[in-house]
Amino acid sequence: MKMGCLSTLLLLFSLAFASFSSAEISSQVGICYGQLGNNLPIPKNSVDLIKGLKAKRVKIYDTNPQILEALKGTNLQVSVMVPNELINNISTNQTLADQWVKNNAVPFYPHTMIRYLLVGNEILSSPPNLTWFNLVPAIRKIRFSVKKFGLGKIKVGTPLAIDMLESSFPPSNGTFRSDISEKVMIPLLHFLNRTKSFLFIDVYPYFAWAAQPTVINLDYALLDSKNITVSDPGRVCFIRIYWIK
Ligand SMILES: *[C@@H]1O[C@H](CO)[C@@H](O)[C@H](O)[C@H]1NC(C)=O
Ligand SMILES: *[C@@H]1O[C@H](CO)[C@@H](O)[C@H](O)[C@H]1NC(C)=O
Ligand SMILES: *[C@@H]1O[C@H](CO)[C@@H](O)[C@H](O)[C@H]1NC(C)=O
Ligand SMILES: *[C@@H]1O[C@H](CO)[C@@H](O)[C@H](O)[C@H]1NC(C)=O
Ligand SMILES: *[C@@H]1O[C@H](CO)[C@@H](O)[C@H](O)[C@H]1NC(C)=O
Ligand SMILES: *[C@@H]1O[C@H](CO)[C@@H](O)[C@H](O)[C@H]1NC(C)=O
Repeated sequence: MKMGCLSTLLLLFSLAFASFSSAEISSQVGICYGQLGNNLPIPKNSVDLIKGLKAKRVKIYDTNPQILEALKGTNLQVSVMVPNELINNISTNQTLADQWVKNNAVPFYPHTMIRYLLVGNEILSSPPNLTWFNLVPAIRKIRFSVKKFGLGKIKVGTPLAIDMLESSFPPSNGTFRSDISEKVMIPLLHFLNRTKSFLFIDVYPYFAWAAQPTVINLDYALLDSKNITVSDPGRVCFIRIYWIK
């Protein structure tokens, strides 16, 4: 399954503190545009900054109309998010899903290049909760609305944290957490496969380095490694991560 590069290319920095020169930033980079903070630049200035970094994608954590307006007419591919709080109600109510898509995506599409519609944020990392099991039904209803309003180009999915995995090493030993694998991951993966969407994963290599700085290479944490090869004995499995700059 192909991973959405939007979340895997996650950059952990506040726009206000961005200190990269544009030459250092690859054309593959996406920016997570959060709004937790004070003295935030106005959306237009943030969008100019993102364009200046030559990023190709931007993810926002809601459907802030001022931001979506500022992104209109740019070449940035945009990812928007349905808030966690609406998942339960949307999961049983197609009218509500329709209303949400009509109010939050239709007015901006296609001039704002919305490409990904994410339902909730890292839902499976909260304590066990009914919302886990309403996630895929809500995703299906949102996808139905997206098609109904002619926005079929938008891929629907949900970003998950790496804690969805119970084990991840070596790669061939990877397993999903047993409390979500049958009831959530299988239906989710079927949905993503059927709709040719992506499994979005938030990957924060910096935290892995911070926890074990002597074991993990700093280049890896800073996304500077050019060619990491992981060998997985017993399998013909070489994973090569190229970080294109
Ligand atoms: C969900 O629906 C119930 C019943 O209609 C309503 O009382 C509640 O406010 C809704 N929740 C949200 C977050 O909109
Ligand atoms: C479904 O959502 C619509 C639109 O928000 C609302 O009017 C209706 O009451 C909801 N239906 C149920 C059964 O909660
Ligand atoms: C269940 O999880 C969702 C998503 O993380 C959260 O918004 C909600 O508050 C949680 N509900 C309860 C009862 O813990
Ligand atoms: C595979 O993962 C399990 C934990 O789920 C671990 O106990 C086991 O050692 C791992 N196997 C290898 C070969 O590392
Ligand atoms: C994934 O979708 C393809 C069609 O696009 C289908 O042939 C295949 O069986 C699906 N895989 C699974 C595991 O459902
Ligand atoms: C990447 O690493 C592999 C294994 O160490 C090596 O065979 C290959 O030549 C390297 N490729 C580049 C582009 O450095």
